[in-house]
Parts: sequence; C-alpha cells; structure tokens
Amino acid sequence: MSSRPDGQTFREAAGSLVEWIAAYLDHSETYPVLANVEPGHVKASLPSIPPADPEPFASILDDVDRVIMPGVTHWNHPSFFAYFGITGSAPGVLGEMLSAALNLNGMLWKTSPALTELEEVVLDWLRKMMGFPSPLFGIVMDTASIASLCAMAAAREALGLNIRERGMAGRSDLPRLRVYTSEQAHSSIEKGAVALGIGLEGVRKIPTDDAYRMRPDLLEAAVLEDRAAGWLPVCVIATVGTTSTTSIDPIPAIADVCTRHGLWLHVDAAYGGAAAIVPENRDVLAGCERADSVLVNPHKWLFVPIDFTAFYTRRPDDLRRAFSLVPEYLRTDDATTNLMDYGLQLGRRFRALKLWMVIRMFGTTTMQDVIRGHMAMAQELAHAIDDDAEFERAAPVPFSTVCLRAVPGGVPDEDLDRFNEVLMHRVNGTGEAYLSHTRLKSRLTLRIAIGHLRTERRHVWHAWALLRRHARELAASWRTPNAGGVP
Ligand SMILES: Cc1ncc(COP(=O)(O)O)c(C=O)c1O
Repeated sequence: MSSRPDGQTFREAAGSLVEWIAAYLDHSETYPVLANVEPGHVKASLPSIPPADPEPFASILDDVDRVIMPGVTHWNHPSFFAYFGITGSAPGVLGEMLSAALNLNGMLWKTSPALTELEEVVLDWLRKMMGFPSPLFGIVMDTASIASLCAMAAAREALGLNIRERGMAGRSDLPRLRVYTSEQAHSSIEKGAVALGIGLEGVRKIPTDDAYRMRPDLLEAAVLEDRAAGWLPVCVIATVGTTSTTSIDPIPAIADVCTRHGLWLHVDAAYGGAAAIVPENRDVLAGCERADSVLVNPHKWLFVPIDFTAFYTRRPDDLRRAFSLVPEYLRTDDATTNLMDYGLQLGRRFRALKLWMVIRMFGTTTMQDVIRGHMAMAQELAHAIDDDAEFERAAPVPFSTVCLRAVPGGVPDEDLDRFNEVLMHRVNGTGEAYLSHTRLKSRLTLRIAIGHLRTERRHVWHAWALLRRHARELAASWRTPNAGGVP
C-alpha cells in the first residue's frame, strides 16, 4: 500500500534538516573548499532507478553526507575566493524555505498579490540602499545574464523597427544591429546578443584604458564609424565591476555618448552595485541614474543565496512592449502590474522573500559593515602583494577583488603563465582556499575575490601564505633542471 509523507513526517524531517543546515553553516570551513572527486563519481554512487517505496528521511540525509557532500564545492566556505563568491546566509536560507513552502507563482498580480508587492517594495529598499535618487521600475530576475538579455531586447524594441512582429531574418529594410560593450564585459552580453539574433559580429567590443575601463572616446568613434558604414547602433552596455578586474567603466562620460547618439544605456553592476550600499562608496554608481536600465546581483555580494538579480529600468514601457503577450487564459480586468509582462518567463517564484529576510535580519548597518570589511581586507592584501618582490599586482582594486601574478626570480618570463597556473592548482589542491584565474593583457592572472559573509582577515592571510609558500617551493623545483619545472 502506498503512503505519502504527512505533516508529522515533515516536522521530524524538517527538524533534522534544519539542525543539519545550522551545523553546516557554522562549520562550512571544515570542508575542503574545492570538491575533490573524479568526474562521474557522484553519479556512480547513486542508484540508476528510483525507489518504488518510500524511504525514511534519515537515510536520505545519510546519503547527503555520504554521496552528495564529497561532490560539493563549498561556495559557503569563507576561503572561497574564486569567481565572485555567494553566501547562503541563514536569513536567505529561511527565505528560500518559506518561498518553497508557499509555492507561489507570481505571473499575475492576482495569482499572488503579496509576491508582486513585496518584490516592488524590497527592490525599492535596495534602490534606496544603493543611493539611486529617483524611483525606478524594478523586477527580480534569476540571473544577470537574463536581465542583460531583457535590456537588449527592450533597447531593440525601442528602435521602433517592429522586430517583435516581423522578426529580423530576411528583412531588406533592416540594417545590421550593433551593441557596444567593453572588451572586459562579461560573456553574458555576447550570449544575449546571440540569443536575440544580433550575433557575435553585432557586438562591438570597445578597448579599455590602463585600468581596464571602457574608453568613451573610442566608443563614440565606433558609433560614428558604424553609422557611416550602415550599421544601426542599439545600445551600450557598461559595467560597474568587470568580471576579471572589477574595473568601473566611466558611466557619466558613456552616458554623454549615449545621450548624443540616442542610445539605450544598460549598466551591468552585477557585482559592483552591492558596494554602493556603503555611503562612502556611492560614487561607484555615479551616472547610473542616467542609465535606461541597471542590474545588480544580490546573490553575488549581498548574502542572498543564488539566484537573485535586481533589474531596474526607467523605461518599463519599452520592456513591456518587448515582452508582453497576453493570451485569453491570462487576461485580467484589474489595472495592476503583472510581472509576466516584463520578461521572458511566465511563472515566477517568490524570490523577494529572501532579500527581504536578509535585509531585515541583518539590518543595513551590518550589511554595510561586512562590505566595508571585505574592501578593507582587499586593500591590505593589495599592499602585501605590492611589498613582495616575488609577486606583482595586476590591476587596481576598486572593490574587494585582487588580481595578482607570481613573478619569482629565476623563472623565465615565457614560463610565467604556466607557473601561475600550476601554482593556482597547487593552492586549490590543498582544499584550504579556492582561487580562479583570468587573462589580462594576454597574461594568465590569478584572482582573489573576497565576498563571503564569513570571510575574516585570517582566511585572506592564510590564502596569501599558501600562495607564497607554494610559489617558493614551485620556483625551487622550476629552477632544478631535472625536475622539469612542472609537476
Ligand atoms: C559583471 C558580471 N555580469 C554578469 C555576470 C553573470 O552573472 P549571472 O550568473 O547572474 O548570469 C557575471 C558573473 O560573474 C559578472 O561578473
């Protein structure tokens, strides 16, 4: 006879899971940061067919420890310094739990008024926290990639080319479209252009200055050149906190170019926007009030578990024109905002809850203190690198991410890329810290991104000590002819 999990089963299972989660969040540091399993290991440890009969929650939780956890790379580890960190903070986890329990779908206002209205309120709180002067239309999306795609779609729609109705293919009346972004912009911009039929050739990457910031003079020259050659410029996508170095494009000057040429300005502040909640950092978003759209990822540096992108626009009508499509079965008579009209997806989950919980349970003062602390640690690390002859810093540090390269004496210049790559693998192989890399001026460069809620000075100094020790050892073996340098 079949039986279903009932309320009592839930209470008992949830009790043990909450204990498990609390212990994990308290002790995430005790795990190796980077999962150390071979490809296929987790899969091979799982049965290939589902159970026909109910299993007790305790044995499922045992399997989490036995099978799942060894295959987890711990983004919740305070020594996770790769990419940009994310924090599964306790308030954020509570928000996710409640969201799953309520199981709302906010496609229309009436399918859950609280979802639509909390989303509006919490995004307005975030806007005020970041110091944006005037009200903006805000909507929660899953990722920055999707939000940038939506911005490009709205910008394209605003050109009045009727692409929504007629599409782009085979139209002799349609010039080729161009979007502009910097050579340091995130790859999601190109992906969005691919998805929208603009294509990779339709993305013109503007060169950057010595600090990896878009050159507005070259942007303007590119727009003029393209116009003369028959391209139709659509929008400019600037970045506050680029992925490799966290550089900040000069938004006011870029906004001037956009104004002169009638172009939509979208700002990708996925990482950097969070810094603006600290009053003394407000200028990182200077000029963004002139942007047509801006996105910020609270799932990166504001302690909200992935996924959560805050997308703001001054031109919601253009966004709506790009996406609204209302079949009879979704038609409503009320004059409310139906969030399905402002993006690709119909169904939407109650993400606003987790940002609401985070802001309320931390309070803005604590959130500011954590961000301030991360930025101070990054400055300390930058100074330590500057003082060490065996390392060099590869970029300015406007936020909390430091780019560096080992340059040990005796290792030839042409070996340095390989040396730094091996060094990174050695440090990551300890399980005590996790760094990632990028390429700057065609040189392989390491990144230490400080952004986890629980990262303390000691974690940063330990990562730095690991780097120095392994660089010394590696350099010694590199110089020994028989060792061949590379392990
Ligand atoms: C500047 C920037 N924009 C966009 C993205 C893409 O973010 P998401 O994973 O939310 O799509 C990233 C990811 O790191 C990023 O650094």
